[in-house]
Amino acid sequence: MRIVSLRLILSLLMGIAVVSLVFSYNQVVHQRHTLQLNLEERARLEAESLEGKIAPVVQRGRAQELQRIAERFRAHERIAGLAIYDAAGKPLAATAGVAEHLGRPSLTVLQALSGKHAAAAYSTVDGVPVHIYALPFEGREDAVGALAVVHDVSYIAASEARVWRDTLLRVLILGGVISLITILIVRWSLEGPIARAAYWIRGLRTGRVSSRRDLPTWDVFQPLAAELANLAQSFEAARSAAETEARLREMADSSWTAERLAVHVQSKLQGSRLFVVSNREPYIDTRHGKGIRTVVPPSGLVTALEPILCACNGTWVAHGSGDADRETVDSRDHVQVPYENPRYTLRRLWLSKQEEEGYYFGFANEGLWPLCHIAHTRPLFRASDWEAYRAVNQKFADALLEEMEGTEQPILLAQDYHFALLPRMIKTRRPDARIAIFWHIPWPNAEAFGICPWQRELLDGLLGADLIGFHIQSHCNNFMESVDRSLESRVDWEHFSIKRGHHRTAIRPFPISVDLPEPSEDPADESIYLDRANLLRELGVEALLVGVGVDRVDYTKGIPERFHAIERLLERYPVYRGQFTFVQIGAPSRTHIKRYHDLLAEVEAEAERINWRFQSGNWKPIVFRKGQHSHREIQRFYRIADLCLVTSLHDGMNLVAKEFVAARPDEGGMLVLSRFTGAARELRDAILVNPYDVEQTAEGIRLALEMEPEARQARMRRMRQTVRDHNVYRWAGNLIAQLCEIRVKGEPASTGTAAPGAAAGVSAA
Ligand code: G6P
Repeated sequence: MRIVSLRLILSLLMGIAVVSLVFSYNQVVHQRHTLQLNLEERARLEAESLEGKIAPVVQRGRAQELQRIAERFRAHERIAGLAIYDAAGKPLAATAGVAEHLGRPSLTVLQALSGKHAAAAYSTVDGVPVHIYALPFEGREDAVGALAVVHDVSYIAASEARVWRDTLLRVLILGGVISLITILIVRWSLEGPIARAAYWIRGLRTGRVSSRRDLPTWDVFQPLAAELANLAQSFEAARSAAETEARLREMADSSWTAERLAVHVQSKLQGSRLFVVSNREPYIDTRHGKGIRTVVPPSGLVTALEPILCACNGTWVAHGSGDADRETVDSRDHVQVPYENPRYTLRRLWLSKQEEEGYYFGFANEGLWPLCHIAHTRPLFRASDWEAYRAVNQKFADALLEEMEGTEQPILLAQDYHFALLPRMIKTRRPDARIAIFWHIPWPNAEAFGICPWQRELLDGLLGADLIGFHIQSHCNNFMESVDRSLESRVDWEHFSIKRGHHRTAIRPFPISVDLPEPSEDPADESIYLDRANLLRELGVEALLVGVGVDRVDYTKGIPERFHAIERLLERYPVYRGQFTFVQIGAPSRTHIKRYHDLLAEVEAEAERINWRFQSGNWKPIVFRKGQHSHREIQRFYRIADLCLVTSLHDGMNLVAKEFVAARPDEGGMLVLSRFTGAARELRDAILVNPYDVEQTAEGIRLALEMEPEARQARMRRMRQTVRDHNVYRWAGNLIAQLCEIRVKGEPASTGTAAPGAAAGVSAA
């Protein structure tokens, strides 16, 4: 850095010196010229003013009188000297100082006499620079003499010297100031940030700091900061993955990680390309002031599918629902994601308001959603919605077929109830494609499903897939029974497959899950863990015991039912009044649908009613936080809660239950879980309740609050182990593994794949 400073200072000094010298030189030349002109003009006026007085005296030849005139004039006009000559150039009078020098006729005087006009010259007298002005004066016909006026011009040289001295002084002062400023700028803006960045990078390398926090101020290097932070994050992720892998190897563990999933999928795909289709996109771009904000919807799907897509540079097709989505795609509606480290393609598909209304709000969410969830909300089947659903499925299928062009034996993972017709649409056009569809919601029993006017079309559409996944075995059974009852097909209960025409479909359970990160040693995480008091202060309540619920505000989630259970708890056990507060985080969802809109109002009204009934001082029983919350915000609530309440009336899996367990490395808190969730099949150590039974749910809450810490810890430990062993990476790995086992049309039997009915592969449980 010293060399940089020195170079900067020297270059600046040289620049300043050259510029100052040029300007000063010009100033000196100009000034000299002006002073000389002034002097010459003055000398002329002085000489001419004397001429008239002197000429007659010279003619009369009165030397003494001439000497007096000369002395008087010199004293009066403050000139260096004056000399008077006759026509031959002989001196007649001269003032002291110049007498000696001008005692004999000078060249200038002779020039003036011979040329009969004034002459001037610069010379020196006793080493003093002077200006001599000689003026001849004439009688009637001829020159009678001349006079010479002498001025001391040393002041001109002195003024030039002054200019040069000022220049030098200016250069020196500027040099000093600039050197100082340069040193300070280099120190503050370069040395400081570089030293801090180096210290941070060293800390990162040695694992002392985290890439997300402790990021130093980068000043002029700010543009580099974001890039380096990403690099550092990848570095941290790689290190933590390597550490986890090493630990797992050490423990001979078979746990799944994102990295392991990526390697697994690469080996399974053997060069095939992977496609995912879902209604909800993984990155939503929305307008935010003058900029664009990207939101990742809080869904387990992104966590599970992103490592797979990244590993094989796949393509995800989804509805572009963000109001700034069109601004970030290219001409083919593609955008590379994740934005900070693009690894796969998101293809956005645009839907008109009418399409969205009929396909998404209408058939998917007012028809299929209540049809599949037994939550006593009547499904609405409108022919126009069905038509929109069919058309939009075709639109997605066309987009996928376009993306698949040129790809042999593509692999497609279709997601959820929005795309029941799509597998058949793709299979018809691309028999070589391997297609799986995962149904994220329950499949009801055959009688319940049978009320749908288009049940046969839905079942046939789904059976275009090679593999259909549900969360649990009973949903598989319900599906097979629905097919058995309504479609011409061969249902094979032994191998859990269905043959329709020449095509066979395997039906399997794949319980979806979450990622359970190993406990972090990050002190920042510890501070989150400890901030219960802060959180309660932020909520404006005082309570000793805290419960939490996190849901989309959906009638299947049993939110009013859980409020009633809390009310009942406070009625039966008044000791909890003033002590226990339940925080409900509720993300408004599908509010365009009346049932959802009304439910939101009902939830708010119920919370208010119960609060009004019991609240006192700074305590109230229910805090309802309406709105979208980030993963980080939700984690804070999970970590401070004494219990988490999941009271779905019917739920395919319910990932909140697993997220809560995963968020508690301290093995604290307790889960109260509806027995009508898929999660209840795995998390047997939760307190299982029937959410319709208010008394039982209230008792479940009391049991969770009063359980012995050791018993609670043991239960949480076992549940954590279950989630750890059956995490979301295992879910995705199993799904892909089973799909890749299936032989598709055109594939030689020698590739080692098997018919779906015989698919062995990895256990999904
Ligand atoms: C359920 C569905 C998902 C859906 C999610 C959020 O979990 O199974 O497919 O994405 O709800 O609902 P939304 O309608 O907002 O996408």
